[in-house]
Amino acid sequence: MMEHFNIAIDGPAGAGKSTLAKKLAQELSCVYVDTGAMYRALGVYFSRLGLDLADEAAVSEAVSGATVSLSYQDGVQQVFLNGEDVSAVIRSEEAGLAASRTSAYPAVRAQLTQLQKDLAAKENVVMDGRDIGSVVLPDAQLKIYLTASSRVRGSRRFEELKAKGENPDLSRIIADIEQRDEQDKTRKVAPLIQAEDAELLDSSDLDINGVLERMRELCRSHGIL
Ligand code: DC
Repeated sequence: MMEHFNIAIDGPAGAGKSTLAKKLAQELSCVYVDTGAMYRALGVYFSRLGLDLADEAAVSEAVSGATVSLSYQDGVQQVFLNGEDVSAVIRSEEAGLAASRTSAYPAVRAQLTQLQKDLAAKENVVMDGRDIGSVVLPDAQLKIYLTASSRVRGSRRFEELKAKGENPDLSRIIADIEQRDEQDKTRKVAPLIQAEDAELLDSSDLDINGVLERMRELCRSHGIL
């Protein structure tokens, strides 16, 4: 196996990035870095301060008061905000929304981008997010753009919600996904984009093992395995 490597996985919400990135990191015995969790942690910080999240100046000024750090327990990423373990808190809908709004601000991105670069310089990582191949790790040995049709992503989300006992509306979910894609792709700073040298992997017709097998093949063809 290659001595030091970085793998970047980007793609839209619901394509299965975190599930696959986690599994791949396990197989390669390296660190899985969930960058969405970092944006969520900062989102929690700004919300707790009671800031108006639409106020870019206020949010940008506050960012220097937050330190996000990661640690790993049995290979599972834990996220800390100023020393407090916020791993559970960041999973709320509210934290996701706060992350989505504040991740558009350059000052917020600058802080986390540096942290992500530092981590990848020290360790072998599989890092997932939106701008990893394009901005954070432009020299990654392997870049994967993992996607799936909005219909397939919508159906997966639909099944998840049904399993939780909810009564979801499939067409509504698909419409929301398409709207979020549009937002992510058209924002000014670090939009969701397939890097020029990224491998496109469409999981619409593959199950988890099928995607993982494609990822192994890409690791081999890129000299990582
Ligand atoms: O993947 P997620 O839902 O945990 O991400 C939370 C938010 O953070 C999402 O709105 C997109 C944003 N994000 C980002 O802008 N850049 C990244 N590298 C990762 C996440």
